[in-house]
Amino acid sequence: MISQKNLDFINSMVKMRLKDIKKILIFASGKGGVGKSTIAAFGSYILSRKYRVGVLDLDIHGPSIPRIFDIKNFKLTEKKDGIIPLRVENIDIMSLELFLRGKPAQLSGKHKENLIKEMIGITKFVDLEYLVVDLPPGTGDEFLTSLQIFSDPFIFLVTIPNDISWNVVKRTGDILKKYGKRFGVIENMRGYFGNLNVELKCKENTFPYIGYLNFDNSIIDKSPINCKNSTFYHELNNIIDKNLTKF
Ligand SMILES: Nc1ncnc2c1ncn2[C@@H]1O[C@H](COP(=O)(O)OP(=O)(O)O)[C@@H](O)[C@H]1O
Ligand SMILES: [Mg+2]
Repeated sequence: MISQKNLDFINSMVKMRLKDIKKILIFASGKGGVGKSTIAAFGSYILSRKYRVGVLDLDIHGPSIPRIFDIKNFKLTEKKDGIIPLRVENIDIMSLELFLRGKPAQLSGKHKENLIKEMIGITKFVDLEYLVVDLPPGTGDEFLTSLQIFSDPFIFLVTIPNDISWNVVKRTGDILKKYGKRFGVIENMRGYFGNLNVELKCKENTFPYIGYLNFDNSIIDKSPINCKNSTFYHELNNIIDKNLTKF
């Protein structure tokens, strides 16, 4: 276990690392496989064309960000005051996968909270205007720790348009509402996984609805860098353009 003294040190490092980041955007959802990591990666790339952007992959058990950006051969650089995140195009990326390299992560509870804090504490994100945080599905440790660590983030709740997804995602929204967090719902893979009226569901639950992204066969498992002409890319670009001041 980490001693109280070390914990105090890690907490102060987290504060120090986050204090100059202008905006935090979190991608969450009760459900897995709905496109959180994909939207986080494409969104980061779109924002990075105008702003300084970092991505923090906090999906400890299923990190996908390095895979989506097709990161293969890399070497992390360690400086006296921290680890330099991996630069892809203009984006600074940190993920546990950069250490795991395909191995599974077996840990639970308080250890996860500490690991997340350590990841933030050791990473030298510099001069970021946006930090995009990709979460695993659910409202467990990674989600709750993120709500605790990041002050005033904007949280994107991703759902696909069917009742099984909505039924679970709604619970995440209920928690965010309860704690007065700023959030909005993105409907993903419209036209493929059902035809639930997500906008109406949002209205009924007083959840802000941000917009929808259609199912786009051409982006499956692809990096945003190679999909600049895709429908998905253009739709997300429009959503970001229209809503950026809200975030
Ligand atoms: N709008 C979309 N159209 C087609 N495929 C998509 C779309 N959004 C995501 N995907 C694909 O769905 C799969 C799961 O997406 P992912 O981002 O890993 O979900 P999550 O992070 O929510 O678990 C990936 O193969 C991804 O490429
Ligand atoms: Mg994911």
